[in-house]
Amino acid sequence: MNRPNLPSLVFIILFIPILLILSVVSAFAFETADEYYSHASAFRGCTNSECHTEFDAAKSSFLHEPVVSGECDECHTGNYPNKYGLVNDQGLTCLKCHTKIEHEVQSSKFVHGPVESGDCISCHDAHGSGRKFLLNEPYSDLCSSCHNLKGLYSGASIHKPVKDGNCGLCHDVHASNYKSRLIDIGANLCLACHDDMVSGMTAEFVHEPLIKSGCTDCHDPHSGKNRLRLKVNTDKLCLTCHEGKRNEIEQYTIKHAPASEGKCIECHSPHYSSNQYLLKDKVDKLCFKCHKDKEIWKQRRFQHGPVVQGNCSACHNPHGSDNAFVLRLAFPHKFYTAYEKGKYDLCFNCHKEAMITTKMSKTVTDFRNGEINLHNLHVNREKGRTCRACHNIHASDQYDHLREGFMFGTVNIPIYYFKTETGGKCVPGCHKERKYDRVKKVENKN
Ligand code: HEC
Ligand code: HEC
Ligand code: HEC
Ligand code: HEC
Ligand code: HEC
Ligand code: HEC
Ligand code: HEC
Ligand code: HEC
Ligand code: HEC
Ligand code: HEC
Ligand code: HEC
Ligand code: HEC
Ligand code: HEC
Repeated sequence: MNRPNLPSLVFIILFIPILLILSVVSAFAFETADEYYSHASAFRGCTNSECHTEFDAAKSSFLHEPVVSGECDECHTGNYPNKYGLVNDQGLTCLKCHTKIEHEVQSSKFVHGPVESGDCISCHDAHGSGRKFLLNEPYSDLCSSCHNLKGLYSGASIHKPVKDGNCGLCHDVHASNYKSRLIDIGANLCLACHDDMVSGMTAEFVHEPLIKSGCTDCHDPHSGKNRLRLKVNTDKLCLTCHEGKRNEIEQYTIKHAPASEGKCIECHSPHYSSNQYLLKDKVDKLCFKCHKDKEIWKQRRFQHGPVVQGNCSACHNPHGSDNAFVLRLAFPHKFYTAYEKGKYDLCFNCHKEAMITTKMSKTVTDFRNGEINLHNLHVNREKGRTCRACHNIHASDQYDHLREGFMFGTVNIPIYYFKTETGGKCVPGCHKERKYDRVKKVENKN
């Protein structure tokens, strides 16, 4: 058999089709404007059943308007030898019609890199695409084609709109007047979706960072370690800004556990509140939340003024103190103590010291036998009784906050107190009945 030689076989199989293709392509890869115009004028319109069928409106779900209307030459102006006869700066071509975007670009402080350089087609397909806004790629892949988004997604918990790739819900892809080209400033950016927080922003007390810089001082907008994406763990977060409080809390010798452990948000709202100091609730309610057993004070017949007002922090410093029981000022806890100025500062913050220091009086106290000041007699001496010996500081079932009893070691010594118009009678477990009368001095027998 007369077989064809190998070179001619290769020629027929490989080169003929290549030549054919090249001849077709060269006919369309125009070198000059004239070549392009003769190509364009050879056909009626650029798209029909044979030519540029890819621009058939029926085939592409989103087709660019000038492509539909056959205004190919709005962009393909015949500027050869430019690629595809386009003008060099595609941005200019696009902005010719898209004056709204042009205005945005010109009037904004921050213009996105590719928009600035007129590279609109890095994101949009000039002809049409299967996606809304003629996007080249699904929204979620669009940004990652230029940005390394690993950093944004590094945390275990990704913010829903970020996870969905809806970057444009926060960032203007083209241009904006706000840093990072955000679509709005400060808290407004976030409140657009977190609308349940809008009314809170009109509360009487709003935490300053929310007003000054919005939400991102504390929350990472993209991703983070946990659900709330706080930039710093809650137990450290507050003290990163409140350095003064940090020093204060560190210096106290008597710690209040929730403050020294950084559980600030047990008592404070990080956002806003209708209570001063951003407190989450009335002070006593906050305290009772943890000191549940103390809530029974509210059921006692008599409560001390500041306790009635719910003002526990009048006496206790919730952040810590150098005094036992985190008291703001000095107050002795023993049964007996020698009287000294300063020892009862806590009480004299509201009551008059004269009630203890004056020996004889008709006015400084009602605890008098005639003019003898019995407060002075009991308290102001070497072996003075402390206020606690007789009074219950928070609440009591007896008049004048007299305590019902006293623990002496393991024994509860009861105190019975009877009040009269002009005096009273005390029957403690430790000594005989004693009476006093302000009008007619009583002689107590020993
Ligand atoms: C809004 C501007 C614009 C309009 C209108 C437009 N084009 Fe294009 N065209 C471009 C751009 C930009 C490119 C280059 C794309 C690239 O580099 O990826 C291009 C590339 C092309 C190419 C070569 C590459 C390819 O995608 O096949 C052809 C062919 C083409 N256009 C045909 C047309 C036809 C036909 C029309 C009218 C039906 C048309 N174009 C309308 C902007 C336009
Ligand atoms: C000849 C005028 C003209 C030119 C040039 C032009 N466009 Fe358009 N474009 C339109 C019209 C008209 C519409 C449809 C109406 C509208 O949405 O504004 C449109 C729509 C669009 C849309 C879709 C808007 C939507 O709401 O879905 C995008 C995106 C777009 N153009 C991008 C571009 C880009 C990128 C360029 C440059 C490569 C460009 N256009 C050049 C006229 C033009
Ligand atoms: C980084 C990607 C990117 C670049 C670059 C870009 N766009 Fe867009 N464009 C988008 C996305 C995404 C949308 C969809 C709507 C949105 O999220 O704002 C859009 C929407 C549009 C729209 C329709 C909605 C509107 O705002 O009117 C037009 C028109 C448009 N772009 C034109 C342009 C023009 C013109 C340029 C170049 C100057 C350009 N784009 C550059 C990503 C881009
Ligand atoms: C074609 C490449 C390209 C694409 C696609 C792109 N970007 Fe960019 N982007 C840049 C360049 C270049 C810069 C740096 C210049 C600048 O600050 O704008 C930048 C900067 C940014 C910045 C930082 C601005 C700042 O102030 O730090 C943000 C935010 C951003 N892009 C968001 C996006 C989002 C969201 C998308 C997707 C819709 C996107 N980019 C898609 C190129 C791109
Ligand atoms: C919920 C709103 C929101 C969404 C959604 C969002 N961002 Fe951001 N982005 C921000 C804020 C706010 C900043 C400014 C960060 C700051 O000031 O701490 C920012 C900053 C950036 C920056 C600048 C670099 C930086 O870390 O400061 C880039 C880049 C960026 N975002 C890209 C993206 C991309 C890409 C997406 C989509 C995958 C996206 N963002 C989605 C709110 C958002
Ligand atoms: C486009 C809408 C949108 C925007 C804008 C937005 N978020 Fe969100 N955010 C969500 C969605 C959706 C969730 C998930 C809600 C859920 O799972 O219950 C969420 C959840 C959160 C959570 C966790 C809440 C929880 O209880 O788990 C925080 C914190 C948060 N966002 C903060 C922000 C901050 C800060 C901004 C502004 C930088 C912001 N968001 C902007 C939509 C948004
Ligand atoms: C000073 C820091 C700080 C700022 C600023 C801040 N947050 Fe928070 N946010 C927190 C802390 C801490 C929590 C956890 C509260 C808790 O567990 O009781 C939280 C919780 C949340 C939650 C979860 C639900 C809730 O209320 O407990 C959402 C949603 C939220 N913040 C959104 C926002 C938005 C939106 C803004 C801006 C308007 C903002 N945050 C500003 C610190 C902050
Ligand atoms: C980004 C910095 C920042 C962070 C984080 C921060 N704060 Fe603030 N906070 C401020 C500023 C600024 C003020 C207003 C000035 C001032 O009173 O110190 C303020 C005020 C306060 C006030 C009111 C003070 C007053 O005298 O009325 C309280 C209470 C407070 N912050 C508690 C907290 C708590 C609790 C946290 C943690 C959840 C926290 N802050 C986290 C910056 C911060
Ligand atoms: C047990 C509840 C409680 C805890 C925990 C707590 N606070 Fe307070 N804080 C209060 C109360 C109550 C006030 C009201 C002012 C007062 O009576 O001292 C206050 C006031 C403040 C003030 C404003 C007035 C001042 O004293 O400077 C700041 C700032 C503050 N707290 C920050 C913090 C920070 C930061 C933490 C966490 C380290 C924290 N607080 C933990 C209850 C608490
Ligand atoms: C988040 C829980 C919590 C809250 C809220 C709280 N405390 Fe405490 N408190 C503690 C813990 C824990 C201790 C240390 C353990 C103990 O002695 O019970 C403590 C100790 C004390 C002590 C010292 C008790 C002792 O026997 O030495 C006093 C006094 C006190 N708290 C008062 C208050 C006051 C006043 C408030 C409200 C402003 C308050 N606490 C709010 C948890 C809390
Ligand atoms: C007038 C000052 C004063 C007020 C107001 C006050 N306390 Fe006290 N608190 C004291 C003194 C003093 C002690 C020391 C022990 C004692 O004398 O009972 C004390 C002790 C405590 C103790 C620890 C000892 C115990 O009884 O277990 C707790 C807890 C406590 N107070 C919580 C509160 C709460 C909660 C409030 C608000 C409802 C409050 N205090 C209001 C002065 C006050
Ligand atoms: C923050 C202010 C304040 C402080 C501090 C204070 N008190 Fe009072 N006290 C009052 C007020 C207001 C009343 C009057 C209302 C009432 O009867 O409780 C009062 C009344 C009393 C009464 C007499 C109530 C009556 O029925 O006549 C006694 C006893 C008393 N305080 C003891 C003390 C002792 C002991 C201390 C120190 C541990 C102290 N107080 C600290 C505000 C204070
Ligand atoms: C020996 C018991 C006893 C001691 C100790 C004591 N008190 Fe009293 N106190 C009373 C009695 C009883 C009354 C009631 C007087 C009356 O109304 O008839 C009273 C009343 C009061 C009142 C009401 C106003 C007045 O003077 O009548 C205040 C305030 C008060 N005491 C504070 C204190 C303080 C502060 C201390 C400690 C520095 C203290 N007491 C120590 C027994 C005592």
